[in-house]
Amino acid sequence: MSSIQLECHDIWKKFGGFEALRGVDMDVRKGEILGLIGPNGAGKSTLLNLINGVYSPTKGKILFDSHDTTGKKPHEICRLGIARVFQIPRPFYEMSCMDNVITAIVFNSDADPIKAEKRALELLEFVGMRYPERKPDEITLQDKRRVELARALACEPKLLLVDEYMAGLNPSEIQEAVELLKKVNRELGITLVWVEHVMPAIMGLAERVVVLDHGIKIAEGKPEEVARVKKVIEAYLGSDTAVEA
Ligand SMILES: Nc1ncnc2c1ncn2[C@@H]1O[C@H](COP(=O)(O)OP(=O)(O)O)[C@@H](O)[C@H]1O
Ligand SMILES: [Mg+2]
Repeated sequence: MSSIQLECHDIWKKFGGFEALRGVDMDVRKGEILGLIGPNGAGKSTLLNLINGVYSPTKGKILFDSHDTTGKKPHEICRLGIARVFQIPRPFYEMSCMDNVITAIVFNSDADPIKAEKRALELLEFVGMRYPERKPDEITLQDKRRVELARALACEPKLLLVDEYMAGLNPSEIQEAVELLKKVNRELGITLVWVEHVMPAIMGLAERVVVLDHGIKIAEGKPEEVARVKKVIEAYLGSDTAVEA
């Protein structure tokens, strides 16, 4: 079995009096694709926000490659090798897509402008973005996601956190997006922790799945195993329609 790259121990997150995460344990193995699923409001994005330092946990510990990253800032965590693709792309709208990627490269490394430009072109080609000179408001959502992925790859991550990459895409775009995430994992060797609502996509590609509901981990295992767990079916469909596992 491959080694553990990320460890989340007994993670709690409170927003005021509201407990968004309640004692979640999650291990991520080097090189795997781990699917993180659960109903709206389950705490999935919050967990990603804790892993990449947008928030600090109220309680608990996070270790990445044996470094304690609990409470570290996003740019420090990025430098250690964790990048994030946000659900809602956040490019700089006044710059071209190319310049968006160059900015990410320069921010995350000591690359000079010529090297950064070459690398940006490579990354945009890798993600299949054919209009590097366009600005983000001149491209489709699918291309925005590609640029967002290229910006995340600019920090040379070992682990990539992906939040609802498929949301808003049509079926053929989803198929391409699945192939792209697979390529990131297989060709670049990058571990993925991937939150997704498009079930066939995540259940088809993830090797393991963790299920959150109301801030608690209710199941973990191979996709076909968790899909049979009664609590998971209940969390998604409501108890009336659940069948015995
Ligand atoms: N910054 C915040 N302040 C207050 N409540 C929040 C904040 N972020 C998330 N929450 C709450 O925490 C819960 C989990 O949210 P989230 O992690 O976004 O869920 P998911 O991504 O699984 O849909 C929700 O009830 C949400 O309203
Ligand atoms: Mg979310």
